[in-house]
Amino acid sequence: MVVIEGLSFGYRRSEPILVDLSFEFPTGTVTAVTGPSGKGKSTLLYLVGLLLSPWEGSIRIDEVETVGMPDRARSRLRGERIGFVFQDAALDATRTVVDNVVEGSVYTGMSRRAAVRRARELMDRFGVGLRADHRPGEVSGGQAQRVALCRALLVDPDVILADEPTGNLDVGTAQVVIDALREAAHSEAKTVIVATHDPDVMAACDRVWEL
Ligand SMILES: Nc1ncnc2c1ncn2[C@@H]1O[C@H](COP(=O)(O)OP(=O)(O)OP(=O)(O)O)[C@@H](O)[C@H]1O
Ligand SMILES: [Mg+2]
Repeated sequence: MVVIEGLSFGYRRSEPILVDLSFEFPTGTVTAVTGPSGKGKSTLLYLVGLLLSPWEGSIRIDEVETVGMPDRARSRLRGERIGFVFQDAALDATRTVVDNVVEGSVYTGMSRRAAVRRARELMDRFGVGLRADHRPGEVSGGQAQRVALCRALLVDPDVILADEPTGNLDVGTAQVVIDALREAAHSEAKTVIVATHDPDVMAACDRVWEL
């Protein structure tokens, strides 16, 4: 479960973007965060993903306060418990697709062999298995997004943050991604937070929070 309380943040002091937000994201549910472009959906995900620190307020993951935590403990928590699917996939162009997917496994003590096996299973499930040994520059936008989802799921994180995960996908492939996020929440008791404008995604989420 993720709880935010009294959260405020802006990239510049003169320009607050999120002001005094409080919300609970329960374990086992998928929550859609929605609102107009530029409102701060991605920013909220970066804060919960421990990639940014708030000006004020609290972000708790299973009752552990993350604000003010020392950097090493924060990085560790991020690596072990949080899976992030970036809006633009953010793959490393110099490494193969499968190497991108297994990148986070170093935090978990998983052997490379086990990580590659799991990566290939995930990639087959999302229809990108044939692209495993290609570079990210050789895959389409929608394939890159699915690869980014595989990377986020690889370490079996408790919290999955997905930023417009269906933005570049056709209806059928988007449904595969939505189903995977729902299954992760409902069958594997994960906390899933999805930033989205997509009405089909919102309809498939358990709760919708409009910023
Ligand atoms: N690194 C940054 N430095 C300064 N301002 C930023 C930075 N990133 C985002 N912003 C600004 O913060 C605000 C919120 O941006 P954010 O990306 O969180 O919006 P969003 O709701 O995800 O939008 P979209 O639906 O277009 O993805 C916007 O006004 C944006 O211009
Ligand atoms: Mg965004």
